[in-house]
Amino acid sequence: MTTVTEIALGTNGPIVSKLGLGCMRMSSTWGGPVNDEQESIATIREALDSGINFLNTGDFYGSGHNELLVGKAIKGRRDDAFISVKFGAIFYNGQWLGLDLRPIAIKNFINYSLVRLGIDTIDLYQPCRLDNSVPVEDVIGTIADLIKEGKVRYLGVSEITAEQLRKANSVYPVTALEIGYSLADRQIEDKLLPTAKELGIGVVAFANTAEGLLTGTMKAPLAANDYHTHFSRFQGENLIRNLEKVELLRQMANEKGYTPTQLAIAWVNAQGNHIMPLVSMSRRSRLPENIEAMSIEFTTDEIDALNTHFAPGVILGGTYLQR
Ligand SMILES: NC(=O)c1ccc[n+]([C@@H]2O[C@H](COP(=O)([O-])OP(=O)(O)OC[C@H]3O[C@@H](n4cnc5c(N)ncnc54)[C@H](OP(=O)(O)O)[C@@H]3O)[C@@H](O)[C@H]2O)c1
Repeated sequence: MTTVTEIALGTNGPIVSKLGLGCMRMSSTWGGPVNDEQESIATIREALDSGINFLNTGDFYGSGHNELLVGKAIKGRRDDAFISVKFGAIFYNGQWLGLDLRPIAIKNFINYSLVRLGIDTIDLYQPCRLDNSVPVEDVIGTIADLIKEGKVRYLGVSEITAEQLRKANSVYPVTALEIGYSLADRQIEDKLLPTAKELGIGVVAFANTAEGLLTGTMKAPLAANDYHTHFSRFQGENLIRNLEKVELLRQMANEKGYTPTQLAIAWVNAQGNHIMPLVSMSRRSRLPENIEAMSIEFTTDEIDALNTHFAPGVILGGTYLQR
């Protein structure tokens, strides 16, 4: 298997793999079936063997299950992994109840995360969102204290606005911004991406397949119990129109000898050396395909065609990423 290249995460940031492994879907975060744990652990280990060292989890993914899983997978090979953890989301029985970003809560969260992961330091620690319940200075200031204490190495943020990013970075240097980005969701190109670039902040881009829309395997209508049906993008006429749009990606993928998912990842990868595609892979069989995607190159005409066809706003309806 080919190995993946590396990038510096932000100006003067840590060197990590250009492709990240998202572990969220290895746990039953939203109440769906639990994945095969042995396969998930084997996937993480094979990813590490292939040079993917950036592992993404959250303390609320499967109510701690995901961190325990990652902890088992990295046991005995801590130095091979760069561990990124989100905190702050409060779920009850799979339902989102809100955020808890109070300093005392953060200090409580991190100790539980360290125990579940079986490590002494989290490489990248990030609030999963910011809101107005706690001043940004207090949230970021608390993580800065954890960095001084040695419990955290770098500060990250997730799903925030350009203004919030600037504010957070003024309190303590932000190393990475975790944000949803794909051909189907390009709103961040307007302000957030340029701000991250200006401030020298690395971009960890997730949902490259737009919740599976760009994999080319989705068919309308979806089963009534499919979780996608909660979002207007995947409902009725919107889904039919959106899948028609995906046809171009499928055609281009066929012509180039790749899959639509590979092109969707490759497009994100092609957006810059400071952008890392963060992809969910819950089974080893995903790894060769997605690693190969990192070596795909586009001609200028191909990139122009994709950018025009998937101009911001052409994909109808929203998901939980609607900003
Ligand atoms: N900061 C945030 O707010 C936030 C929100 C959501 C997610 N995340 C992080 O970002 C990561 C990625 O996000 P995501 O799961 O929403 O998006 P994604 O990477 O686009 O994954 C969506 C689905 O694509 C499937 N997939 C992966 N490779 C494939 C391939 N080659 N062909 C066909 N399907 C393929 C995965 O299936 P399998 O799982 O079956 O392999 C997964 O179910 C998560 O694991 C999580 O760590 C962050």
